[in-house]
Amino acid sequence: MKYVDIAGIKASAVALGCMRMEALDKKGVNAVLSGAMRAGINFFDHADIYGRGSSEEKFGGFLKENPSVRKDIFIQTKCGIANGGYDFSKNHVLEAVNGSLKRLNTDYVDFLLLHRPDTLMEPDEVAAAFDELERAGKVRNFGVSNFNPWQIKLLKTCVKQPIAANQLQLSVTEAGMITSGFNVNMKNDASAVRDGGVLEYCRIEGITIQAWSPLQYGFFGGTYVGNREKFPALNAKFDELSVKYGVSPSAIAFAWLLRHPAKIQVVAGSMNPVHIAEAAAGADVTLTRSEWYGIYFAAGHTLP
Ligand SMILES: NC(=O)c1ccc[n+]([C@@H]2O[C@H](COP(=O)([O-])OP(=O)(O)OC[C@H]3O[C@@H](n4cnc5c(N)ncnc54)[C@H](OP(=O)(O)O)[C@@H]3O)[C@@H](O)[C@H]2O)c1
Repeated sequence: MKYVDIAGIKASAVALGCMRMEALDKKGVNAVLSGAMRAGINFFDHADIYGRGSSEEKFGGFLKENPSVRKDIFIQTKCGIANGGYDFSKNHVLEAVNGSLKRLNTDYVDFLLLHRPDTLMEPDEVAAAFDELERAGKVRNFGVSNFNPWQIKLLKTCVKQPIAANQLQLSVTEAGMITSGFNVNMKNDASAVRDGGVLEYCRIEGITIQAWSPLQYGFFGGTYVGNREKFPALNAKFDELSVKYGVSPSAIAFAWLLRHPAKIQVVAGSMNPVHIAEAAAGADVTLTRSEWYGIYFAAGHTLP
């Protein structure tokens, strides 16, 4: 397993996202978490809303029965999707974290992310919430999710803690933050900057980009790996490279993300221990430049 430095911690480059954990029974949770840890994953992503709290609860059940693992892993959760919209008010952030800690059966989370930008956000209220959570030892590091650079700058007008991570949708099929950078000033759709230049901003500021839905096309459209009907050239390329490196096609899809010098962390969402181990092996593959570009072209992207 390759590791990335996030706020000084040694986090596995492949994290496990627990959004789909709600569907598992106790035996399934045990198999997924033990399997992920065996594959070298030490970073687990949650949100208070996943399964309406049941994903955190199931993870907390595992921690209750295996308390010794807590010191060896990093737990991240998110808050702010609530109350019929988004809510970054101080009271809500504090309440949300208390709820997550209870469900997760832990005294602290390593990272707290604001889930989706709330235009009604008052940065001083967020700052007051973060200070209180930090002082109480409930949250060790802070970050955001789906934020553009200006929204991060706005937050930073009051928040004094470093913004350690920005979780964003990113995969070879959903690569707008990369394609727009290739097409600056071109009169084509790929040149559209829909995220304010977030890739370059995060690199400049040392903010780790966490790639969510690394295997999905569209907004939960399905998995592009193995979908030969919709993505024939891409899957042919994955097949070719999976033979070369002796790993699964999904590992190559992960290796494509990890090859980027932005030091991205991939948030895998599989709840199948075999798929998790296969994909995690992608962290040990370093694609060449021409292989990276070959995958990019096979996904249908072009260069000017
Ligand atoms: N911040 C945000 O706004 C946001 C939004 C969405 C997600 N997230 C985070 O990102 C995480 C990942 O999202 P995701 O679940 O959409 O990620 P994903 O890894 O792209 O997709 C996982 C899904 O793909 C399936 N899959 C099919 N074939 C697979 C294969 N060969 N290898 C691996 N998986 C395969 C999995 O099924 P099996 O279980 O059968 O393997 C699972 O249903 C979430 O858990 C959550 O933590 C964050």
